[in-house]
Amino acid sequence: MAKLNITVCMGSSCFARGNQENLAFLEEYIKQNGIDANIELEGMRCENKCASGPNIYVNGIEYNNVDVEKLKSIINENI
Ligand code: FES
Repeated sequence: MAKLNITVCMGSSCFARGNQENLAFLEEYIKQNGIDANIELEGMRCENKCASGPNIYVNGIEYNNVDVEKLKSIINENI
């Protein structure tokens, strides 16, 4: 299984507009699937790209307007 580094923008705009749910989903998904050794989850501060948020980086690739559905397909593509 590939190793993923997922960085979630925790700035107030991204967080309020979906990253709170995205983060909760990720934590639950990692727990349920027992893949905490494969996914490294990090938070980051606002990068002034709020207009395209919620923003999440996966292995350095930037994803915009991320919701839980999009997150699921990003994980499935990369894992
Ligand atoms: S809050 Fe995420 S880029 Fe500003």
